[in-house]
Amino acid sequence: MNRRVFSQLLAFGVGYLSAPSREAETQDVSSGDAGGNATAAREAAENPLARLPVTVEDFIELARAKLPKPTFDYITSGSEDEVTLRDNVEAFRRMRVLPPLLHGVSEVDLSTTVLGEKIALPVMLAPVAALRMFHPQGARASARAAARAGTIVIPSTSAHNSLDEIAEAADGPKWFQLYAPRDREVALKLVRRAEKAGYKALVVTVDLGERKDADLRNRFSIPHDFLLKHLRDCGFTQLTEENTYEELVAFNLQAWDPSMSVDFFRWLRKQTKLPIILKGVLSPTAALQAIDLSLDGIIVSNHGGRRLDGMPASIDMLKDVTEVVDGRIEVYFDSGIRRGGDVLKALALGAKAVLIGRPQAWALAAGGETGVKRVLDILRDELTNAMIASGCRTVADINDGLLL
Ligand SMILES: Cc1cc2nc3c(=O)[nH]c(=O)nc-3n(C[C@H](O)[C@H](O)[C@H](O)COP(=O)(O)O)c2cc1C
Repeated sequence: MNRRVFSQLLAFGVGYLSAPSREAETQDVSSGDAGGNATAAREAAENPLARLPVTVEDFIELARAKLPKPTFDYITSGSEDEVTLRDNVEAFRRMRVLPPLLHGVSEVDLSTTVLGEKIALPVMLAPVAALRMFHPQGARASARAAARAGTIVIPSTSAHNSLDEIAEAADGPKWFQLYAPRDREVALKLVRRAEKAGYKALVVTVDLGERKDADLRNRFSIPHDFLLKHLRDCGFTQLTEENTYEELVAFNLQAWDPSMSVDFFRWLRKQTKLPIILKGVLSPTAALQAIDLSLDGIIVSNHGGRRLDGMPASIDMLKDVTEVVDGRIEVYFDSGIRRGGDVLKALALGAKAVLIGRPQAWALAAGGETGVKRVLDILRDELTNAMIASGCRTVADINDGLLL
């Protein structure tokens, strides 16, 4: 991003400018809404954030400037030595694309279907905890941005907005990411609420246990009122403001099941007709387990390098997984997506769509709904460019023949 524009954005407080700067007027990076969306056009005129950041990573500094250091580090850091975190991004950089020539493609169609639902681009918003600590609108802003971009949002059980609040905020398609409470009654009530609120699938995350040096050094913690609201939103309504912070933390520690096993999925499969997606798959064996359990999809993911450090980059495992799955269930991908070209590579290796975690969180911190919409626009524009350059008219044309 142009350094002067960036400094100016920081000086005024990104997202709160009321008039476009001169640079903003002359630096129109296409938002891709050409000829369309009046809201987007008005927003672009009023708010430079709607068009100025030109890469996903431009949002990192904008987020850093907005957030207390512990919160920024909570988003950005990875586990222990961050080997997996770095590898997630670098593995994409090591891959090479060799596009065919003379395919005569000048327009592309980015739409695809996931679980039978048509979405405008193969990029979805990953479940991210604590979103309300990054921006007052939290997961509601992410949901609105996803709806405007025509894609799916997957709110986390720990988003700090209740699943009902998020469903009311935007009417686009949503899946609900479920962390399993130890108490199956509480889990079941969450499932029923998700069904009632119109969520179209359950994403169950199985890679658990987060230990990040940065969070320990910064003594990162969730404020009392946020933690209380989160637990009550999840159904632990016996907790009140009378409970001390120490009590809430102790309650939270024992409330969730850190030792997930196939039993949980056997139980869940019997409770709901909603499609169930397993998040946190890295091996062909785990993918086959998901098929055996009659699940409907898997997300190849190492949780963005926030779990066990030393696990392989997700993209390095994707092909082995899609080969063994062989189209029997849908395979999605996350961890390390920073460019539209990365989306192309993941699709080439057989993913149906990808999810973004940190890019969403940085953009939300930088500019709420506008920021998240912008990050989706950037990925859409970069993917459009990559597809034209690779002679792919539709996402179905993207295949591993493009990769060296
Ligand atoms: C701040 C933060 C919080 C997260 N919280 C959750 C969560 O509550 N549930 C979950 O399944 N994944 C969570 N994730 C992981 C993301 O869903 C996703 O797997 C990961 O961020 C993808 O990697 P990326 O950040 O490189 O895009 C979180 C990620 C971040 C960055």
